[in-house]
Amino acid sequence: PRKIILDCDPGYDDAAAILLAAGSPEVKIIALTTVAGNQTIEKVTSNALRIARLAGLSDIPIAMGAKRPIIRPAVEVCAEIHGESGLDGADMPEADIPLDPRPAAQLIVDTIMREPAGTVTLVPTGPLTNIALAARLEPRIVSRVKEVVLMGGACKEGNVSPCAEFNIENDPEAAHIVFNEPWKVTMVGLDLTYQARAEKPVRDRIQAIGTKPAHFLWQVLEAFAKNYKAWRGFDAPPLHDPCAVAYVIDPTLMEVRPTVINVEIRGELTSGMTVADLRRPAPEGCHTFAALKLDKDRFWDLMAKSVERIG
Ligand code: BDR
Ligand code: CA
Repeated sequence: PRKIILDCDPGYDDAAAILLAAGSPEVKIIALTTVAGNQTIEKVTSNALRIARLAGLSDIPIAMGAKRPIIRPAVEVCAEIHGESGLDGADMPEADIPLDPRPAAQLIVDTIMREPAGTVTLVPTGPLTNIALAARLEPRIVSRVKEVVLMGGACKEGNVSPCAEFNIENDPEAAHIVFNEPWKVTMVGLDLTYQARAEKPVRDRIQAIGTKPAHFLWQVLEAFAKNYKAWRGFDAPPLHDPCAVAYVIDPTLMEVRPTVINVEIRGELTSGMTVADLRRPAPEGCHTFAALKLDKDRFWDLMAKSVERIG
C-alpha cells in the first residue's frame, strides 16, 4: 500500500477522510497529525484520537500540531459547519491511545526521513501550517516525499470569501511555502470537491451498512448536511477532505491537469486565493496540478466500501 501522512483538523469531512484511508487496502496511514482549523487544536486533536480508535488505527503515532498560523492571528474556527466540538452529533468512543509527544512538524520530518525516499505521500486536509513548518525544519523532506495531495484552494470560486477557500485562507503564508517548494503538489480544491455531494441516497446507503463506523459516518453526513443547508443553502454537503485521500487511492477517479498555481498573500480582497493559470497549457516540468472533475459514483462506492471494510 501507499504510505500516507494525514494532516487534518477533524471536523466532519476530515473524519470521513480518516475512515476512507483506514478502510482502504491501497493506502496505509503511517502518521496522523492535527492542525487548528475547523476547531481549536485541543478539540481537533481529541477528535483525531477518538476517530482513530473507532477506525481501528491503534498502531500509528498521532501528534498535535500548530495552534495557530505562521503569521496571522489565531484561526477563526468553523463552528457553524462543524459544531462546538468539531464533530457535534457524532458518537465516538473515548480515546485509548496516548498522543505522540512530538510536535506534528517533527513527527512529519522524522517519518519522512525514516522511510525510503519517494515512498511517503503527504495528505493535508486542513490549513497547511504543519507542512510548511516541516519543510522549513528539514528541507530534505521536500525531495524525499513522493508527492503532496492536499484538500484546499480552488481555481474558480472560494467558500469563505469569493476568492478563497478555508484551508488556504487560514494560513496563506504556509500555503505559499507548500505550493512553491519543488515537490509535486496536487490541489484537490473546491472545483473538484463540490462534485462530491453527499445526497440523501448516499447517506441512506451508508446508514444501511449497520456497523459502528458506518453509523458514525452517517451521523457525520447528516449533521454536515443540516449545517451546509443552513450556511449555504446546499441541498447536499460537499464532502471535501476524503477526495484528497481518494485521489491517492485511485487517481483514475479524477481528471487532473498540470497548471501553475500561486497563492495570494497580500491582496486585500483576495488573500488566500489560489491563482491557477488555466489559460494555456502548463509549462514543461510544472509541479503543481489541479483536480477538476470527479467520477462521483465511483467515489461514493469507494467511500461506502471502505467504511464497510473497517467492520
Ligand atoms: C475545507 O475546510 C474545512 O472546513 C473542511 O474540513 C475542508 O478541509 C473545505 O473548504
Ligand atoms: Ca479539513
